[in-house]
Amino acid sequence: MLLICPHCKQQYNIEEGKIPSSVKNVKCKNCGQSFPLQEEPAPTPEDVISRVVTPGDNETRRIGVCISKGGVGKTTTSVNLAAGLAFAGYRVLLVDTDTQGQDSFALGVQPKGGLTELINEELSAEEAVFKARERLWLLAGGKSLAGLKRLIDRKDFGGELTVSEALKPLESQYDYVVVDTSPGWDPLTVNVLFYVNEILTPVSLEIMTLQGLVEFLKSLSAIQKHRKDVALKYILPTMHDQRVQKCTEILEKIEELYGHLLCKPIRQNVHLSEAPTSGQTIFEFAPGSSGAEDYRELVRKVANNDKLFR
Ligand SMILES: Nc1ncnc2c1ncn2[C@@H]1O[C@H](COP(=O)(O)OP(=O)(O)O)[C@@H](O)[C@H]1O
Ligand SMILES: [Mg+2]
Repeated sequence: MLLICPHCKQQYNIEEGKIPSSVKNVKCKNCGQSFPLQEEPAPTPEDVISRVVTPGDNETRRIGVCISKGGVGKTTTSVNLAAGLAFAGYRVLLVDTDTQGQDSFALGVQPKGGLTELINEELSAEEAVFKARERLWLLAGGKSLAGLKRLIDRKDFGGELTVSEALKPLESQYDYVVVDTSPGWDPLTVNVLFYVNEILTPVSLEIMTLQGLVEFLKSLSAIQKHRKDVALKYILPTMHDQRVQKCTEILEKIEELYGHLLCKPIRQNVHLSEAPTSGQTIFEFAPGSSGAEDYRELVRKVANNDKLFR
């Protein structure tokens, strides 16, 4: 459960089960002020989408691919959505905020730095942003982000805006900024939620329960109290296997609860797991595969343009 002090915005990631039910107020270790411990109700679709700020035609769209769970297809989706938008003709910046640095690997590139070096001013924006493909640029993640997290933690004030302040001056050069995130809640994930205004949440029909999605949405609500213009825009089922009953059941439940956010599922497809090992996007590795077809459909949905790739 993510708690944010309403006075100083310090974040606490607390295991819900460890809080005695009698506790109604908590004291912030950072600023010393007390605030009520409120159980976040599971947000309704209206709660999570009503805040969305529809970008103007010339405004850069900032999309975060987020959910606290790992292994659900965040990186696969970030890379292929970004690449698909670029192939469709948009200028795209892909930002990797995970210490694993998988986005560079998936694109088969080795930038000499990325987000950390941009924020530390070790590299200029021109040096930190790596041109990975035609119209597709990468601001890489990787191990150095661990130091960046400590830097954010040490800031007395405004730590949650560190990424935003670094990306804002660059973003007008792009039509889309797509941000890949790490599993769990860490200072960088919170930073991403203070930067993007649209969230795409992959839900693996293979490994996830609906509970994982509901937990994520509760934490998102906690952020939305402090930042009004971030909203859940898309729920993307991944690793869909029609033959598996559990997949169908989860899908039906998501449709019932969050129907209008639901995107057409990405099917289980072996080429999607093989493509990164050759440093290729699914459109390069297996353009005729169901994986490529499904991600093209996602690109059409996100760009709101049915004619793309036809
Ligand atoms: N639709 C899919 N079909 C088959 N394998 C997939 C699919 N989507 C992702 N994978 C594989 O599942 C694993 C986890 O995906 P990944 O995108 O790295 O998740 P995350 O970034 O959420 O940890 C990776 O090995 C990836 O190649
Ligand atoms: Mg990942």
